Amino acid sequence: MGKINAAITGIQGNVPNDLLTNKDLEKLVDTNDEWIFSRTGIKERHIQKGEGLATSDMAAEAVKGLLEKTNTDPLDIDLLICATVTPDFVFPATGNVVSDKVGLKNAWSFDLNAACSGFIYALSVGSQFIETGKYKKVIVVGADKMSSIIDYTDRTTCIIFGDGGGAVLLEPNEEGYGIIDSIMHADGSGREYLHQKAGGSLKPASHETVDAKEHFVYQEGKSVFKFAVSNMADVSAKIMEQNNLKSEDVDWLVPHQANLRIIDATSRRMGLDSSKVMINIQNYGNTTNGTIPLCLWEWENKLKKGDTLILSAFGGGFTWGAIYLKWAYDPS
Ligand code: UT7
Repeated sequence: MGKINAAITGIQGNVPNDLLTNKDLEKLVDTNDEWIFSRTGIKERHIQKGEGLATSDMAAEAVKGLLEKTNTDPLDIDLLICATVTPDFVFPATGNVVSDKVGLKNAWSFDLNAACSGFIYALSVGSQFIETGKYKKVIVVGADKMSSIIDYTDRTTCIIFGDGGGAVLLEPNEEGYGIIDSIMHADGSGREYLHQKAGGSLKPASHETVDAKEHFVYQEGKSVFKFAVSNMADVSAKIMEQNNLKSEDVDWLVPHQANLRIIDATSRRMGLDSSKVMINIQNYGNTTNGTIPLCLWEWENKLKKGDTLILSAFGGGFTWGAIYLKWAYDPS
């Protein structure tokens, strides 16, 4: 028997219909389309509006679509991992809610929080269960309702984030396709630059924390930017080097979409032409755990069996990492 790799065998995204454009933001804060686009590459974001809707609704829609398009019986799913920083509740896990909404009655499920690197962390964790031979079908879903933790009077953060997510199915592959290598990092000393101050056990919610707007994203943008540029570029170059990949061997870079300038720095370091880089930040902004699956979903019809992909991310924590995989199927 050959080595078992975990291969992505299907992908489905989900974004809410409502749009928040740069022009809309001009009416909310002192900013303008030119500044936002030139500093970040973002034009618009999708925002989940409506009572009673949460991260699990976007995640469940993505999972439902994934099961339909891959002809998979929900009862055959062994495990679902939900990567999110905007869970429906502090507990139980959003993964449990998603599994209930979709009818994954035989799966266990849990949430994974690694901020913007959550999806690749979860992919790395989920792939282990396939590689050992323990499971045959694992779903990894990354989704965030960032609008639920954004202060729309803070121009330094509200321009960046959007809502959305996507799900992939992982199955065994013994023909050499699928996830070949991964490198993951964390450095908790970076927490001071990007975090949510209150609502956790350190500072539970109170009238004071609400009044002080401490339940929103706090970010020191410039510092995060510097760490993101160097670490995302370094880890992407490192995974190429340790797998003897030259730039011409890489078909696609699938980068976390936080800022177009961070993506450009990473692709330059890898020696990649921009035509090989998946970029959709202009339409979605930074959807945190949703960015990488949303890229794969949008590019699915261009991906061919055997294509070499590098997935790469950086996020709060700090967390960062890269995954090298060989795409396992041709467009339908
Ligand atoms: O996804 C996980 C990790 N997160 C990231 O990777 C985000 C990393 N950081 C960034 O992407 C960038 O730092 C930002 C997009 C957040 C900010 O861009 P920047 O080029 O670093 O701008 P800056 O913070 O240095 O601000 C430059 C100027 C400041 O004015 P002064 O002090 O030069 O007069 C800001 O007050 O731009 C001002 N500014 C704005 N102006 C118009 C900040 N936000 C805005 C705004 N519109 N929305």
